[in-house]
Amino acid sequence: MQIAMLQDQIVLAEELEPVYLDRGIFFGDGVYEVVRSYDGKIFGLEEHLQRFARSLSAINIKGVDIESIRSRVSRAFKTAGISNAKIYFHITRGSEPRNHVGRAESKPNFFLTVTELDDDSEEKTKGIAVSTHPDWRWKRCDIKSLNLLPNVLARRDAAKKGCAEAIFVDRKGLITEGAASAFFAIFGRSDVAENHKTAPAGQILRSAPLTANILPSITRDFVFKAGRNIGLAVIERSLTPEEASRADELFITSTTKDIVAVVRFDDKLVGDGKPGKYTKLLMREFRRKYCEELPAV
Ligand code: PDD
Repeated sequence: MQIAMLQDQIVLAEELEPVYLDRGIFFGDGVYEVVRSYDGKIFGLEEHLQRFARSLSAINIKGVDIESIRSRVSRAFKTAGISNAKIYFHITRGSEPRNHVGRAESKPNFFLTVTELDDDSEEKTKGIAVSTHPDWRWKRCDIKSLNLLPNVLARRDAAKKGCAEAIFVDRKGLITEGAASAFFAIFGRSDVAENHKTAPAGQILRSAPLTANILPSITRDFVFKAGRNIGLAVIERSLTPEEASRADELFITSTTKDIVAVVRFDDKLVGDGKPGKYTKLLMREFRRKYCEELPAV
């Protein structure tokens, strides 16, 4: 490579900042994590670091010391001094002139941001509308990869329809997850009898099983635990949009939003169009049990 052009400025290749040659930009060749803090304490850092290590290993980025990532996260968080923070970090395979394979000796790049978390209270109290979108993603959605174009397009489509999240539907007609969240339904006793002959009586909390088609969401694990704590039977089975639109309650979860009720699914109101009773119970249980008294990092 001899020259490059930045906007309308020609620069010599040797003067180009390495950031412009990041494989993350050319190929989305990297993985990321998002953690958050509640009142000055980071939630689930251990789980997020483990998932980060798994993602790195799945795309064969070697030699990253997870302990050094932990201390960078901790240092940046302390320096920012934001008590309810969103901490984003990624590692890419490195910087070099564009070449699909890449050099064996490429040195991974690390990038991190800490921002104030916008805990949108209106979303929390009133719930959100969601719209379905075809799941155009690849076959390894269990890797938290930087390739988020299908998620971006789905989210933009949802936003155009006045919705806060897009819910992916795969080619078999099954809901996988949200564009940036896990997706859950709560069904009452009659649906339990109809659809789950062996399920215990009472309310059930249902979400897609963990496969390569979805991200192993950290919040999902805690929400399942919280669900069992409040007496819900947990079932890991995919839903169709038609089933979801008949659910008593729907909600999404993610690190940054924790639990948010879904009150409209495509054009249909969920229940009476207000956050459901069990969703609210879950929100309280989740906050009380898992977000208070977190260990310091
Ligand atoms: N996204 N599924 C997808 C596709 C996601 O992007 C996310 C989170 C989740 C929820 O995972 P977790 O509970 O571990 O945050 C599920 C983050 C927040 C993001 O991309 O900003």
